Amino acid sequence: MHSFTHTQINTASMLRKDIRALSSYQVADARGMVKLDAMENPFTLPHSLRREWARVLMQVDINRYPDSQMQGLRKQIADRDRVIPEQVLLGNGSDEIIQMLLLATADSTVMAPAPSFAMYGLVCKWLRRDFFTMPLGNNFNLDAKQFLAACAREKVGMVFLACPNNPTGNLWDYETLQTICSQFNGLVVIDEAYMPFSSRQHTALLAPNVVILRTFSKLGWAGLRLGYLLGSVSFIHELNKVRMPYNINALTQASASFLLKHDDVFQAQAAVIRQQRQQLAAALTELPNVHVFPSEANFLLIRVADADRVFNGLKAQGILVKNMHGSDPALKQCLRITIGSETENAQLLSAMRSIL
Ligand SMILES: Cc1ncc(COP(=O)(O)O)c(C=O)c1O
Repeated sequence: MHSFTHTQINTASMLRKDIRALSSYQVADARGMVKLDAMENPFTLPHSLRREWARVLMQVDINRYPDSQMQGLRKQIADRDRVIPEQVLLGNGSDEIIQMLLLATADSTVMAPAPSFAMYGLVCKWLRRDFFTMPLGNNFNLDAKQFLAACAREKVGMVFLACPNNPTGNLWDYETLQTICSQFNGLVVIDEAYMPFSSRQHTALLAPNVVILRTFSKLGWAGLRLGYLLGSVSFIHELNKVRMPYNINALTQASASFLLKHDDVFQAQAAVIRQQRQQLAAALTELPNVHVFPSEANFLLIRVADADRVFNGLKAQGILVKNMHGSDPALKQCLRITIGSETENAQLLSAMRSIL
């Protein structure tokens, strides 16, 4: 064990004061729990595919750096999304792309509706970008006129719109998004993390100032960390300048390329999750004092009489959900529940019944 013998090092003086004031991103310990807190796909890779996948991974030369340009994988994704490979940028999760976007854009104010995905505001803090939120209306609706007026007032240069939104689960009207995209004088990032479970996607809104962020995390590959951005050829070309040269590791590249050839497996799983979502929503609605918000994602936001009590009661029965109470004024007494397998959802329901 190395020990410092010279004068005591003052760690505080080496670090930014605002960084020291932050807390690191907390992930709950889920060992042994039914894990319904992080919007993961509950289904593991089918056995038949596992063998083939292992064979693919055996071919990867990990002594070499990965392919930095990822032409093949970008073409597979481009073909799937009906764009050209030059419109695709890959990230180590879409989180990394959020960081790239905030790193490369002008030093303007950033805005998102509230509540929405926490990473937008967090990365703004890291990069000392001003971040401003506008509260959503009733039923988590977004009013385009109000949003655009707030953008003008706060001199906003970039907005994040999660469609469907996390943690509310709803999808804003298409007209609202169209209006914002066509009238906002800056960059619009449409974050479609939950697209596999949504009734709509927004590729048609792509424009020089509109980009679309997607991820494979919710579709079933959260452990691989792969997200991507669709944008104009020139925008993607510029953003590539702040991408770490080998940001997608060789195992992820090989896995994604293989798994995309079996996209039907994951699309079928997403269909089961959508169906389970309807069933779980209907069953939860039947419980006393439970309000279930409409969802186009792989989770349900619910309001109960006492979120802490329900959260702790579920935890005591080995079920982990996300307690949103206290994270935003609009999320009072709210819990966010990821849709699990049929068995997990049944376990959740029976635990909820016993608690309520
Ligand atoms: C709206 C939204 N965007 C992006 C992400 C990040 O996903 P990943 O970094 O796994 O691609 C999430 C994850 O919860 C999310 O909810």
